[in-house]
Amino acid sequence: MHDEWGLAGKKCLVTGGASGIGRATVLRLIGAGCRTAALDRDTAGLSELVAEVGEGACIPVVGDLTDEVGTRRAVREAIERLDGIDVVVNNAGIGFRADVLETTLEQWDLTFAINVRAAFVVCQEVLPQMLERGSGVIVNVASVGGIIGIASRAAYGASKAALISLTRSLTVDYAGRGIRANCVAPGTTETPWVDRMVAGADQPAALRQQMAERQIIGRLGTAEEIADAILFLSSARASFFHGSAVVVDGGYSAR
Ligand code: NAI
Repeated sequence: MHDEWGLAGKKCLVTGGASGIGRATVLRLIGAGCRTAALDRDTAGLSELVAEVGEGACIPVVGDLTDEVGTRRAVREAIERLDGIDVVVNNAGIGFRADVLETTLEQWDLTFAINVRAAFVVCQEVLPQMLERGSGVIVNVASVGGIIGIASRAAYGASKAALISLTRSLTVDYAGRGIRANCVAPGTTETPWVDRMVAGADQPAALRQQMAERQIIGRLGTAEEIADAILFLSSARASFFHGSAVVVDGGYSAR
């Protein structure tokens, strides 16, 4: 197989790999010749993924990223089973539709626990073996909401801005030791998350249209379009990308 991305044989870990952008990323990485582990709390989703790609192509690792000890254990399991991790994609995330006054402290804490603290904990677990080898790639899945203000996304936007900042810290502290950290900032993307949000709305069709129109091009992105950007950032072709927040948003933030 021609190693188009320079990723053949690389060992990868994708959090939130059972659904949406994470799932599409796992499929892209496998397609590029990587050995990939998917960490998720959704055991059924992980089983479906493994059934699709075949045993051996993807290692399912069950873990709840709100649990620090469980997260560390899950990442160590992935490192052990793959015999190291070259690329980690911190993709798992959640969000609530709420402005500052509507957001409860529980929602704020849960959002930060998954969107920021878990990525930090995962990095603490994967970095030592990357630094030992003198190479490693980190791709964090932020959001355009971490760059511009989006209505009723108070905790979500703040958490994604924090993730972008964490990416820059990783760059400043470790780029000189062979670590390349970047993030993608997607616009609204067609995933089960968005489907759930739309299904739960008073006027689902109106909400879907409103979500589509936020992108200048008038449609949602696909999980594959975001996964392509993640694949690129994971690859050696992105060798000059360090600490970037790569916006993939159909023009959402261009206004
Ligand atoms: P999704 O809900 O389809 O998939 C998220 C996955 O993360 C699920 O498999 C879920 O089980 C897993 N997960 C969530 N909390 C977890 C936990 N505590 N422990 C373990 N696994 C957990 O979501 P989607 O849309 O694919 O989102 C993926 C990432 O992309 C998120 O970080 C999200 O903020 C970001 N994003 C999504 C956008 C969209 O419009 N869909 C836009 C911008 C960013």
